[in-house]
Amino acid sequence: MKNITHHSAKPWHYNKESGHYDQINEKNSIQINQTIEQILKKYKIETTLDLTCGTGSQVFWLAKRGFHAIGYDINAKMLSIAKSKAKKEKLNIKFRKGDMRITKAGHFDAVLTIFNAIGHLTKRDFEKAMRNIHANLNPDGLYIFDIFNLNFLLKDDTITKLTIDIQKRMGNKTIREIQYSTINKNGILASYDIYHKQIGDGKPKIDQAFQILQVYNAKQLKEILHRNGFKVLKQCNIDGSTFNDKKSERILVIAKKQ
Ligand SMILES: C[S@@+](CC[C@H](N)C(=O)[O-])C[C@H]1O[C@@H](n2cnc3c(N)ncnc32)[C@H](O)[C@@H]1O
Repeated sequence: MKNITHHSAKPWHYNKESGHYDQINEKNSIQINQTIEQILKKYKIETTLDLTCGTGSQVFWLAKRGFHAIGYDINAKMLSIAKSKAKKEKLNIKFRKGDMRITKAGHFDAVLTIFNAIGHLTKRDFEKAMRNIHANLNPDGLYIFDIFNLNFLLKDDTITKLTIDIQKRMGNKTIREIQYSTINKNGILASYDIYHKQIGDGKPKIDQAFQILQVYNAKQLKEILHRNGFKVLKQCNIDGSTFNDKKSERILVIAKKQ
């Protein structure tokens, strides 16, 4: 079989799923958002830059709880959803177009890239992004991010645990997403999606999508962070509990700018 190659995501990568992103993902983010809030409180963080804000999950969560949070993302459609939610909720939040590899937004106490966002970059681009995140942080600032745990996904057949089959109903509109994934030892996680959208009993619209994420194990992340000027303070589960290299599906990393 031909090797699957990974390229960093293009700005239009999320165009197709932006319209139903919140319906599918909103509830999944609650746990990690709660943990991030606890971490920011513990380290007395005041200003936060989310460099992969998408439709604004973390930014809204934090802004509503008194933090100063702003969001950047490479995808215009995701940003426009974030902006219209802010308008609807009468929240004055800055959302801007940007690329985590190059955007200079100022200096912040913490930078976030949440929900496997760094997986959209090649290994080389992740290091470039990390150096840019370093430049956007105040001295001693924190970089907080999560990614699937490669060692968990490589173990036995755990990759099948990522299989998704969800259905959401909103009024007479039904969305069903079915996804399965494969993983290789280089951390290339390939996911195949079918989106089935139907209004009432009308003709269903069926979209297919394919995406690749670069995933890492905890040791690899530590090495990359050290190489790019960060000290790892903690690697834990997304609910803040103790990380287990073979059992944890995702790794939440808290790293400090050196
Ligand atoms: C899985 S979504 C996560 C969004 C949000 N953090 C959440 O938890 O819902 C990943 C986001 O990363 C963004 N992204 C991918 N590559 C990027 C880049 N180079 N710079 C900035 N954003 C990027 C995508 O457009 C997408 O909105």
